[in-house]
Amino acid sequence: MNSTYAMERIKGISKHFAMITDHSVRNLLGNSLQERLKKEGLDVHLFSVEPGETSKSRKQVEILEDQMFQVGLGRDSAIIALGGGVICDLAGFVAATFCRGIPFISIPTTLLAQVDASIGGKVGINIPFGKNLIGAFHPPSLIVIDPETLSTLPANHYRNGMAEVIKYALIASAELFEKLQGDLSIEECIATGCRIKKEVVEKDPKEKGLRRILNFGHTIGHALEAATEYQLHHGEAVALGILAEGYLSYRLGYLQEGKFFQIKRLLEKYRFSLQLPKGLNREKMIYRMALDKKTISNRPRFVLLRDIGEVHPFEGAYCRHVDEVLLEEALQCLE
Ligand SMILES: NC(=O)c1ccc[n+]([C@@H]2O[C@H](COP(=O)([O-])OP(=O)(O)OC[C@H]3O[C@@H](n4cnc5c(N)ncnc54)[C@H](O)[C@@H]3O)[C@@H](O)[C@H]2O)c1
Repeated sequence: MNSTYAMERIKGISKHFAMITDHSVRNLLGNSLQERLKKEGLDVHLFSVEPGETSKSRKQVEILEDQMFQVGLGRDSAIIALGGGVICDLAGFVAATFCRGIPFISIPTTLLAQVDASIGGKVGINIPFGKNLIGAFHPPSLIVIDPETLSTLPANHYRNGMAEVIKYALIASAELFEKLQGDLSIEECIATGCRIKKEVVEKDPKEKGLRRILNFGHTIGHALEAATEYQLHHGEAVALGILAEGYLSYRLGYLQEGKFFQIKRLLEKYRFSLQLPKGLNREKMIYRMALDKKTISNRPRFVLLRDIGEVHPFEGAYCRHVDEVLLEEALQCLE
């Protein structure tokens, strides 16, 4: 992080920080950033957790809170979340309730976190009943994105983020979709992705309607992730969800057939596997789909496209139910 502007903004937020990261990112970026901030005269305590989803837990929140009090951090302190989406969600959640809420700064280091998890103010943890079920809306005071941090990111995590970038193109920007078919720089992917998410979230911060469009591909994607016990990465599951929900959009007569095949070709270009994993428990997947947050009367609802770059508004609901037979047909297009 070489920006003097970012450094000045950080200094303006607090002088005392808990920097929360995971063990891998601590070695890659955390230790050196802590040194840099200390040289600027800031008091920075570095705490790291196990990498991965299991750290988004109640237990981990408790440990971090206690560690922060033990080193004397209090109401006048702030949190720096340095890492992927897990750290953004976990550290943001600690910030939401520590001393009734302190500011936090997000420094996302995965593509998914840079284009998605760091923006929009949703923070939270997982509990045995499901993912992200305990949380808050607590927007970061500052987000610092440095695309260079992605140089060490493994390919599968890179693809995770690209699935969200493709989703942004499909729901809001035919221009981005065009560009993605060529060689688009990662800087432009990030800048456009952030802009689209910011615009949607600002119009509907608490997800009363419009914000649901960010869920395109996710009704099926989330159910696939859960049904495979998270063996399928988020982006891989969302890519399959995008294809199946694109198929529903086409079969219901909203999206032209040719456009559906354009979407399929783009997903192939970014090397997503477009087949359901072998041995997938279909019943479990259908059950998980009904637990989706858009579900009404136990029937899942889907965000659907009426063009590339445009979601069907369905009178402000931005999603609708789909007949079970058609849903089965959409899943078959993934075989
Ligand atoms: N709050 C939101 O709006 C929102 C949106 C989307 C996703 N999420 C959440 O984000 C989480 C997933 O985020 P993720 O995919 O970033 O996973 P992650 O945070 O687990 O990071 C993935 C892996 O990449 C490693 N890593 C991070 N930065 C690296 C770097 N620069 N170089 C090398 N390795 C690096 C991490 O150590 C980890 O092992 C999920 O918990 C999901 O619920 C939240």
